[in-house]
Amino acid sequence: MNRILVTGAAGFIGSALVRELLQSDSTIIAVDKLTYAGNLQSLRDVMAHDRFQFIRADIVDRRAMAEIFSTTRPGGLIHLAAESHVDRSIEGPVDFISTNIVGTFTLLEAARDYHATLEGKARDSFRFHHVSTDEVYGDLDTLAPPATEDTPYRPGSPYSASKASADHLVRAWSRTYGLPVIISTSPNNCGPRQFPEKLIPHVILSALSGKDIPVYGDGEQIREWLYVEDHATALATIYHHGKNGETYHVGGGNERRNLEVVHAICDLLEKHAPDHKPAGLASYRELITHVKDRPGHDLRYALDGTKLRETLDWAPLESFDTALEKTVLWYLGNESWWRGILSGDYRLERLA
Ligand SMILES: NC(=O)c1ccc[n+]([C@@H]2O[C@H](COP(=O)([O-])OP(=O)(O)OC[C@H]3O[C@@H](n4cnc5c(N)ncnc54)[C@H](O)[C@@H]3O)[C@@H](O)[C@H]2O)c1
Repeated sequence: MNRILVTGAAGFIGSALVRELLQSDSTIIAVDKLTYAGNLQSLRDVMAHDRFQFIRADIVDRRAMAEIFSTTRPGGLIHLAAESHVDRSIEGPVDFISTNIVGTFTLLEAARDYHATLEGKARDSFRFHHVSTDEVYGDLDTLAPPATEDTPYRPGSPYSASKASADHLVRAWSRTYGLPVIISTSPNNCGPRQFPEKLIPHVILSALSGKDIPVYGDGEQIREWLYVEDHATALATIYHHGKNGETYHVGGGNERRNLEVVHAICDLLEKHAPDHKPAGLASYRELITHVKDRPGHDLRYALDGTKLRETLDWAPLESFDTALEKTVLWYLGNESWWRGILSGDYRLERLA
């Protein structure tokens, strides 16, 4: 089990997970297609690690997946590779259908073939851990209790529908073919190395460049937040100790309105980077601009994390406030990482 294949390892959560898993005695086989969202810079500190191997491959490519399983012989996998940005899924859903649905199907089939070749302990301990999102439940009323693992799916965007489809496939491969699977479901993550198109880095980098900070509609949408390193410890706990066939919510209860998040970021920048403000501006908050809402924008997501807390004894280390402050400080201290993305230079590395 300690030889772990991680898909989507060059992404935001995947790269945090790799760092977490390498702290124990695990060997990591990192698989990533390096789409626009994949960044080898996010794996730079582990590239030379003797228990780390990077393979550039597309999860939709059945032959490549079969070869990776047969040559690297993993004890299990944690599947994070996905197209992950809701706005992009609205503009062009095809990559979401391909990677999130067909890619997950391809990986399930390759894993099933490989699992059939295993015997004894290796066969019993193998597991396919699939990483899902709170968005599969669609939006909740403001006063409704958070979604539990039994709440019916009601996805509302091409992204969430593609992730929900993948979850259904994973459960079907467990029930029909007996593939040992686990699903974990996470709220919005924040932290180091998130691609600048997502809300928190987008706000930080817009503010630092003195650009308008766009807020969809009235900004009253409610999201739950989890620090990415807490997500990584949860994934490691679930992969190693979770029960096959189960779903676990990685919920921490940190619900915030989007506008509150944006205000909090502006205030943290005021505290840590007061001199980056464009001349004549009294506060970063003055950059906030309300823009036309996203079509079908879900009002609220929230996860009930009781099961994970009570059965696997996992709890996040960071509160919303500490997570957000760490995130802001990371972007302030790692300008070369995000400048490489804004300039497009990060894509040159994959061609080398
Ligand atoms: N970021 C969040 O807040 C959040 C919340 C809940 C769930 N999730 C889920 O967690 C997972 C990781 O999210 P993230 O934020 O790190 O995403 P990300 O967009 O930062 O990274 C995705 C990675 O997958 C790779 N990838 C995309 N298509 C691929 C393909 N066809 N073959 C191989 N690799 C491919 C990309 O190159 C990239 O490195 C996703 O499954 C996402 O749905 C994310």
